[in-house]
Amino acid sequence: MIFDTILDTIGNTPVIKIQKLAPEGVEMYVKVEAFNPMSSVKDRLALGIILDAEKRGALKPGQTVIEATSGNTGIALAMVCAVRGYPFVSVMASSFSIERRRLMRFLGARVVLTPPEERATGMVRVTEALAKKHGWFMTQQFENEANPAYHRNTTGPEILQDFADRRLDYFVSGYGTGGTISGVGQMIRQARPDVKVISTEPSGAALLEGKEWQPHKIQGWTPDFLPQTLDRNVAHQNVLVTDQESIDCSKALARQEGIFCGISAGGTFAAALQVAQQAEPGAVILAMLPDTGERYLSTPLFADIPDGPDDAQDLLDDLDD
Ligand SMILES: Cc1ncc(COP(=O)(O)O)c(C=O)c1O
Repeated sequence: MIFDTILDTIGNTPVIKIQKLAPEGVEMYVKVEAFNPMSSVKDRLALGIILDAEKRGALKPGQTVIEATSGNTGIALAMVCAVRGYPFVSVMASSFSIERRRLMRFLGARVVLTPPEERATGMVRVTEALAKKHGWFMTQQFENEANPAYHRNTTGPEILQDFADRRLDYFVSGYGTGGTISGVGQMIRQARPDVKVISTEPSGAALLEGKEWQPHKIQGWTPDFLPQTLDRNVAHQNVLVTDQESIDCSKALARQEGIFCGISAGGTFAAALQVAQQAEPGAVILAMLPDTGERYLSTPLFADIPDGPDDAQDLLDDLDD
């Protein structure tokens, strides 16, 4: 396979069948977005938004691009901007994992950190102020219609093609901007009206249920507002998961299926398991896994993973006996 640029490798991610974790009588599949070049679903959004802005003339050659991002969007935009020749500035709360900001800087981006207590709303405020002052282009992932549109044009059709002539009963996804669930969900509802679209949220930040937002550990999921890019009517049902369930499921996917993914992917799979437990026999469930576990080395996902010697070290003592 030979490609003109790295951007041509975005999308067409694999769907993998779950072998051990699915309850008996139910088939579970996961779409592994870690196969994108910067290892998250956000590569799609970044490319979709930049191509759309170029086409509309909203983004001028060499103009600086700025975005408020919890990390994956910034990493993806840093890659896209590097290829297409735009300086990129990312604004993120300092509570997000440090590997994310270092990755962006590695790709040539500049990173502005904001106080975590100001939440996503604070990141957006700083981004707007900087863009206004310097005449920079705001990608506005939470408002930009090119975001769900790109999922309607790529992620949705990929799934429909993979499941053409096959049974599919449930599609499960969390939301950050809502681009994925809205774009994919709309296509699925149109083409396969029998398939149920299931959204999922942190139990402590169940905005779709009208609850108050509380800080949660599922990075990339559910900001402290309902984004414009989220189609609130796309899901048939909403399922709540806890931080701990999400972390546990991410570990279970790694250890039992060899599928290495982040906390939100664990959360989506935890929701898919809840769906599986209630589902009719023979049901087929597909869950989106948004990113790689490698992005979480400094987060609670790896809290109990030692970096010094572990008990395998004792094996050396036995050798001396
Ligand atoms: C780790 C992670 N999971 C899930 C999502 C949700 O994707 P979307 O913005 O398409 O709703 C994002 C993006 O915000 C993310 O970074």
